[in-house]
Amino acid sequence: MIAYPDIQSRVQYEIDSVVGRNSLPRVNDKLPFTEATIMEVQRIASTVPMGVPHAAAADTTLRGYFIPKGTMILSNLWAIHHDQDTWDEPEKFKPERFLDSKGDVCYRNEYVPFSTGRRACLGENLAKMELFVYFTHLLHQFSFKKPDASPPITFESTFGTTNAPLPYELIVTKR
Ligand code: HEM
Repeated sequence: MIAYPDIQSRVQYEIDSVVGRNSLPRVNDKLPFTEATIMEVQRIASTVPMGVPHAAAADTTLRGYFIPKGTMILSNLWAIHHDQDTWDEPEKFKPERFLDSKGDVCYRNEYVPFSTGRRACLGENLAKMELFVYFTHLLHQFSFKKPDASPPITFESTFGTTNAPLPYELIVTKR
């Protein structure tokens, strides 16, 4: 949000309009722009970029490739989320890509932060609720800003099973 102050303001405007200033957001609040913003964070960041290792349960042929039983399979979720044929300007942060013409949230098959298929993240529903509650509470109560004198914001991340941001500075102001 410190990189996209306009989007931060739009999220806060939506939360304030729907929830008001005198109560805190709840899981069932309808906040489509806010939800689309969280989805866009999850798409562009691809927190678990390569999923977790799987293995072929049987000899398999897929699009002409023979995959022997037992082969380790990694799904490149990051590549799916950054595919130029799927996403318009995939490197740009555009929450609107997850909104339809009525302003409702729209999902698409290529959105796979929790992986896909029968063996996907077991914690998906809990994680979605947690992300929504944390994000909406934080933006309801605080504003976040990059200090003028701090180094430029980088979107480089740690390399490993999960993508985490490198250390950064921010100013948090109570609203
Ligand atoms: C933003 C938060 C999260 C993300 C992006 C995420 C993503 C993922 C991904 C991509 C996988 C690999 C799925 C696969 O290809 O096999 C996975 C597996 C898993 N996740 Fe999550 N996860 C999140 C939060 C959680 C939470 C909160 C829990 C539990 C409370 C959880 C529990 C698990 C478990 C148990 C597996 C292994 C499932 C299995 O194959 O048996 N995750 N997660």
